[in-house]
Amino acid sequence: MKAMVVYDSAYGNTEQVAQAIGAALGTQGEVEVLRVGEAKPERLAGLSLLIVGSPTQKFSSTGATTGFLKGIPEDGLQGLKVAAFDTRFTEDAIGKVRILAFFVRIFGYAAKPIADRLVRKGGELAVPPEGFYVGDTKGPLLEGELQRAADWARRIAATL
Ligand SMILES: Cc1cc2nc3c(=O)[nH]c(=O)nc-3n(C[C@H](O)[C@H](O)[C@H](O)COP(=O)(O)O)c2cc1C
Repeated sequence: MKAMVVYDSAYGNTEQVAQAIGAALGTQGEVEVLRVGEAKPERLAGLSLLIVGSPTQKFSSTGATTGFLKGIPEDGLQGLKVAAFDTRFTEDAIGKVRILAFFVRIFGYAAKPIADRLVRKGGELAVPPEGFYVGDTKGPLLEGELQRAADWARRIAATL
């Protein structure tokens, strides 16, 4: 199994999740964990799994993440399993800000649109998109989230 985990991260939380996912997958095969700027579409050749993660910013993925996904050629993910994750505020935190809760209901988080783009490029979704929770804008991740990320990665590996 050859896998790549591509992430963006403003404050390091999504990076920590990406590394936890990479470490959990790493016990099963060859895994690269790359920041989105380093992950050129040419490097996708020979992969069996691509996982993409981004902080949720303004209900979506970062510009760099979207740019990476747009740069993948049409059908460039044919034959690959794919999965998407984000980091995000908790529903409790969002619920305290009524206008934010309203927009979240409409626009959601980053993971789903990332997964949709991966599938549009020909990838086969291994597991549903997943979100991991931060306590505040700069983090930290809530307790147990890195363990949950590792469990999520093992569920993905089991589909290969
Ligand atoms: C400009 C900006 C917009 C954000 N918008 C959202 C949002 O729409 N929904 C949400 O759940 N969190 C939002 N957040 C919180 C981020 O999800 C949080 O900063 C991120 O998970 C931290 O991950 P990182 O350390 O990898 O950047 C936003 C943060 C920033 C800086």
